[in-house]
Amino acid sequence: MKNFSVNEELCVLCGLCAQDCFFGLIKLDEYPKISDDDKCFECQHCLSICPTGAISILGKSAEDCTPLKGNMPGEDQVSALIKGRRSVRAYKPEPLEPERIQKLLDTAWHAPTGVNSRCVHITLMDDPDSVKKFSNEVYARLDEAIEKGVSEIPYVANLFKMISNNMKENGVDMLFRDAPHFIIVSAPETAPSRMADMSIFLSYFELMAQSMKIGTLWNGLLKRVIESILPDLKEKLGIPADHELGYAMLFGKPAVKYQRTVERGEARVRRVEWGD
Ligand SMILES: Cc1cc2nc3c(=O)[nH]c(=O)nc-3n(C[C@H](O)[C@H](O)[C@H](O)COP(=O)(O)O)c2cc1C
Repeated sequence: MKNFSVNEELCVLCGLCAQDCFFGLIKLDEYPKISDDDKCFECQHCLSICPTGAISILGKSAEDCTPLKGNMPGEDQVSALIKGRRSVRAYKPEPLEPERIQKLLDTAWHAPTGVNSRCVHITLMDDPDSVKKFSNEVYARLDEAIEKGVSEIPYVANLFKMISNNMKENGVDMLFRDAPHFIIVSAPETAPSRMADMSIFLSYFELMAQSMKIGTLWNGLLKRVIESILPDLKEKLGIPADHELGYAMLFGKPAVKYQRTVERGEARVRRVEWGD
């Protein structure tokens, strides 16, 4: 049951909810009604589009939502956010406030997913002591894994040797960058658009973080550690066995401040036309 209902005093019978429903499940039978609601994939477009706030669904009504009028950032602000976002590789040791982490996660949770599956599974390590212990275990086991042959690819083996030596000799943590928190996203192997969904989730997470002055780092190295170098960590982290790993992302209060955007020039585009 999707709990679709219409406040008949507010409804102006404009039909926008019916027009915008992906499966065409909403019919204007005098007032809008939903048929076959088990087909509804809960996108909430009907709630979002209603000009008078007459529709409720899934226990949510207009009063629960943020009005869009006057609340959207301008294009120059969004452009500055995208071009000003940086990979942060230096973090302050103090943790983020839990409610800020929750706000960040809850906002990123609104990222689009194929057929609105919301299949992304978030594994969060927010306790900095746990992150330190986890990092210590990874570094302690890295040399042995390298001895056993971490990869067929010499480049990868050499990279991880360099990472291990850098920690031992210089105390430089190239894997975790001394970040106080990280997330790993995974998704069931059966989820239809899982790789796209997971990447989009992290992209939204990163941009929201940037807007909150929180630093992030996509972490391909940590993904490789969990996926192939120390694979028992997947189970120890509680990531279900039938899940594909998406990516890992470090985050926390940045210990660096960037002053300006980078400029990567014009997008490389190959424009095509189609004739008869
Ligand atoms: C999929 C992906 C994986 C990455 N993995 C790592 C990583 O393991 N370690 C790291 O320091 N940076 C990593 N990065 C960051 C890139 O090096 C960085 O995005 C790039 O150099 C451009 O810098 P910018 O993010 O500040 O624009 C990764 C980025 C992406 C998108």
